[in-house]
Amino acid sequence: MMESDHKKPSYQNHNGFLMPMGFPPEGFISGINYQAQPDDIFVVTYPKCGTTWTLYMIWLICHDGEPLPVTKTLNDEFPHLEEVGQEKVINLPFPRVIKTHLPYDLTPYHPQAKYLYVARNPFDCVVSFYHHTKGFVKHYDFAEGTFDDFFECFLAGAVDFGDYFDNLLPWSEHKNDDNVLFLTYEQMKADPKKAIIQIANFLGDYFADKIQNQEVLQKVLDQSSFESMSQDQERWSSKRPAHMTPFIRRGKVGDWKNYFSPEQVKRLTKKFKLRTAGTDLEKLWIL
Ligand code: A3P
Repeated sequence: MMESDHKKPSYQNHNGFLMPMGFPPEGFISGINYQAQPDDIFVVTYPKCGTTWTLYMIWLICHDGEPLPVTKTLNDEFPHLEEVGQEKVINLPFPRVIKTHLPYDLTPYHPQAKYLYVARNPFDCVVSFYHHTKGFVKHYDFAEGTFDDFFECFLAGAVDFGDYFDNLLPWSEHKNDDNVLFLTYEQMKADPKKAIIQIANFLGDYFADKIQNQEVLQKVLDQSSFESMSQDQERWSSKRPAHMTPFIRRGKVGDWKNYFSPEQVKRLTKKFKLRTAGTDLEKLWIL
């Protein structure tokens, strides 16, 4: 497919950084100018890499495993910085948990703040992102777009929140920093209990103590399971038209095999190898 042939969603362009259409432009400006505080906990991801799952694990750890009531949304509890701007974040109660998809150089930084980064292999990411974009009312102009169309956008880095690798690579350079916990979606899938304990320990002693209680740990594990989170999905994303793919969709590693043509596998593998050459990310996923 020629670059010019494929259907593209529209984006908001902030000096070359692409944001979803329909996000208030002032939210981005205000968000990137937020002054990070020592006790902030940032959950940083590229879109579709397990953001909601991770945030909900944190919410459950904070609430002893009791589920988020259906009258609330996770986005209100843990706002998306570059969507809502800093006002809402400043007024959050402790622990201030902040969601962001910003790349390293745009994310507000404080040496004592904590940054939990979750990465996912780009193959499953693009499939999930395709479904997300198609189902996102703010991308109504992509309603007829196909996976092949979206794949071209992803490969060119012309998608919401920019190029996948521009997000992953700089963050991964900081993965051993004291205030960074770097997890992968695949690790979380393989051993969610371990991930919950790692996250609680990272949040601090108060949360590490909580999760030592086996009953609480089990509740967090059960409530954050794919099956449980598939219920009452308006808690995660109320913006999706009912007929669209649900937000909590497949929750699998390797779903990409149902979508990629052999040529697409070659092209994304090539880009992956090129961008991750000389880093230990090459070994992160067996592609
Ligand atoms: P799929 O579309 O591959 O199913 P984000 O929150 O960053 O937008 O990521 C969304 C992806 O995480 C979706 O992937 C979604 O299904 C998956 N996900 C959400 N909750 C999950 C859970 N409890 N277990 C496994 N995957 C989950």
